[in-house]
Amino acid sequence: MSTKLMFSPGRIGKMRLKNRLVMPPMVRNYADTKGLVTKQYIDHIARIAKGGVGMLILEASYVAQEGKGFVNELGIHSDACIPGLKKLAAVAHKNGAKIGIQLYHAGRQTVPGNNGGKQPVAPSPIPDPLEQVMPRQLKVKEIRSLVRAYARAAGRAKKAGMDFVEIHGAHGYLVEQFLSPFSNKRTDAYGGTEMKRLRFASEVYLAVRKAVGAAYPVTIRLSGDEMVKGGLKIKDAIKIARHLEGLGMDAFHISAGVYGSYVQGHMIPPMAIEDGPLLRLAAAVKKAVNVPVIAVGKLRTPQIVERALKSKTGDFVAIGRTLLADPEWPNKVRAGRLADINKCIACNQGCISRLFAQQDVRCTVNPEVSREALFLVKPGMRKNVLVIGGGPAGLEAAKVAARRGHKVTLYEKSSRLGGQVIAAAMLPLRKDWGSFLETLIHDVKKSGVTIKISTAFSPSMVKPGEYDAAIVALGSTSMRPGVPGINRTNVVIARDLLEGREKATGTVVVAGGGCMGTQVAEALAVKGHKVTVVEATNNIAMEAPLDERYLLLERLKKLHVVIATGTKLVGISDNSVTVEDAKGQRNLQSDTVVLCLGSRPNNGMTDELKNRCAKVFVVGDSNKIGRVTEAVADGALAALQV
Ligand SMILES: Cc1cc2nc3c(=O)[nH]c(=O)nc-3n(C[C@H](O)[C@H](O)[C@H](O)COP(=O)(O)OP(=O)(O)OC[C@H]3O[C@@H](n4cnc5c(N)ncnc54)[C@H](O)[C@@H]3O)c2cc1C
Ligand SMILES: Cc1cc2nc3c(=O)[nH]c(=O)nc-3n(C[C@H](O)[C@H](O)[C@H](O)COP(=O)(O)O)c2cc1C
Ligand code: SF4
Repeated sequence: MSTKLMFSPGRIGKMRLKNRLVMPPMVRNYADTKGLVTKQYIDHIARIAKGGVGMLILEASYVAQEGKGFVNELGIHSDACIPGLKKLAAVAHKNGAKIGIQLYHAGRQTVPGNNGGKQPVAPSPIPDPLEQVMPRQLKVKEIRSLVRAYARAAGRAKKAGMDFVEIHGAHGYLVEQFLSPFSNKRTDAYGGTEMKRLRFASEVYLAVRKAVGAAYPVTIRLSGDEMVKGGLKIKDAIKIARHLEGLGMDAFHISAGVYGSYVQGHMIPPMAIEDGPLLRLAAAVKKAVNVPVIAVGKLRTPQIVERALKSKTGDFVAIGRTLLADPEWPNKVRAGRLADINKCIACNQGCISRLFAQQDVRCTVNPEVSREALFLVKPGMRKNVLVIGGGPAGLEAAKVAARRGHKVTLYEKSSRLGGQVIAAAMLPLRKDWGSFLETLIHDVKKSGVTIKISTAFSPSMVKPGEYDAAIVALGSTSMRPGVPGINRTNVVIARDLLEGREKATGTVVVAGGGCMGTQVAEALAVKGHKVTVVEATNNIAMEAPLDERYLLLERLKKLHVVIATGTKLVGISDNSVTVEDAKGQRNLQSDTVVLCLGSRPNNGMTDELKNRCAKVFVVGDSNKIGRVTEAVADGALAALQV
């Protein structure tokens, strides 16, 4: 396939770019609590810049303290931020990339816990539907002071050696709060009509322009559609873009959504959403303006990137999570090493879900993210390493250890590598788990690991001292609670059902409404079964990322899956189950019962292994029941320590 367009040089204003690939802004939560750049941040940006991307846009960086949205977000609100930003500029420039920074103020989309205890401010006193904190309406004098804060921030960016600034006018933050009738109900000079709502954005742009001069590129990110009732639509975004182009804006970066529509999955499209859902928005703006447009949103393959450029949907393509999953993506595509790409699987678990939990951003499929320096430490002597279990934890451990030059042997008792992820990939709209396994297995094989499948390992198989280190990654065993009737033949374990070892017939009761139970219910309902999910707590699928959970519950509604929360399974017979809730016991018709009641770690052989190996690490579910995100990280970190 041709990759000519994505590697052709481009231009934004007077800035020349080596290619059309852009790292979009992503808050990492790596700054210190004062918003200053840390070594962790520099190592991370250096890794991405080395991978060949042409242009990096640093994260939403607050121009004023009350506009801070995350506890360890980057700031550009004070001159103290300049020295750290200079270091980030230097690592980008060293790799021939251009770097800029996104200027932002969260407005009502923050909470006092994140912005230093201040009441959020906004054009109008209307709480954001997600954050639900009443903001204080900004006075005109305060608005003018904020305009100056954006200008001062832009001046700092230029002083720090940034090549451009991007104004954050998307995702429902302050600039968009003014632009949108969804959040701006003012009737003064800053609201009431389309032109008045545009006033804040225009003043911010003009003040920024004055601060940085005519030749310095200034871009803006806009939501092509806010995806909320009463919010901005693409026709509004086009008018806004044309107006700002008239003032001198150098480029438009077209995203979508606000916090109020976040769960619909447009802003950071999750696994269940198709690739490229926002391309139509970028294309519409591109048709309307004469300056470059940056397209974004789940553009994960070289094919879709090249197509977006060829079809003139955008002049540049932003690949955000793709660069977290594999910072070498541009270099690998350029070299035609497509099979070696570590693909982002849009799980949203390691990155955005951690950010929303005020943790630092990581990546499920790339444990190096956030810990780049650890992986740069050179290995010591070559070791003989035993890995037991071929699920994600064991595979990752084997890959990392082998890549570091160790001799690695991996045992897997089943005939297939992949562990529980094989079952996960069988669920509706979860095929990306299959692609995750395909890549990981490819990498393990390529790294020279000796793989022994269909071989159940037991410690007696090795002599003391034969291996220097053992990594135990045996996964977990599904729970069967002591409910009367639990051993009947109509009771099946979810993993067995998904992997085709068991079958469901007729009406089904799924016991356990966690992430797995609800997804298994969907899989069965899609096949035409009448399904009830029985869950003892009052909530279901709570571990899922916000957007995945919302989309899943909507699909379950459409499929008429019955959800019984606050309800316990207490007995099973041939064609019914007995359940108990606050009102007492009742029977539900059920030909098959599927158990999704959690699992317990398999770690039985650890002590025996300790007598035979100097170092033993227990990772993944064997150590603590978790998700792939933790399993992969555990495996990699153990491999660094052998
Ligand atoms: C249906 C389903 C959906 C899921 N969905 C998600 C999701 O959306 N997101 C997420 O993050 N996680 C999800 N999970 C959980 C995730 O799959 C696990 O957290 C992860 O697989 C744990 O990895 P692991 O390597 O520790 O263990 P496992 O994946 O269980 O792998 C352990 C491996 O060890 C092998 N083994 C066991 N004993 C021996 C022995 N004696 N010798 C050799 N080999 C042995 C097993 O055969 C297995 O292959 C899901 C799980 C299931 C079942
Ligand atoms: C962890 C994370 C943080 C993000 N932070 C920002 C941000 O600071 N500013 C912004 O405009 N968009 C932000 N986004 C959205 C991305 O810039 C991008 O639009 C989105 O991830 C979709 O692109 P992708 O599919 O290539 O990742 C963030 C996304 C993620 C995953
Ligand atoms: S955590 Fe998941 S969604 Fe986020 S970058 Fe990694 S693979 Fe992609």
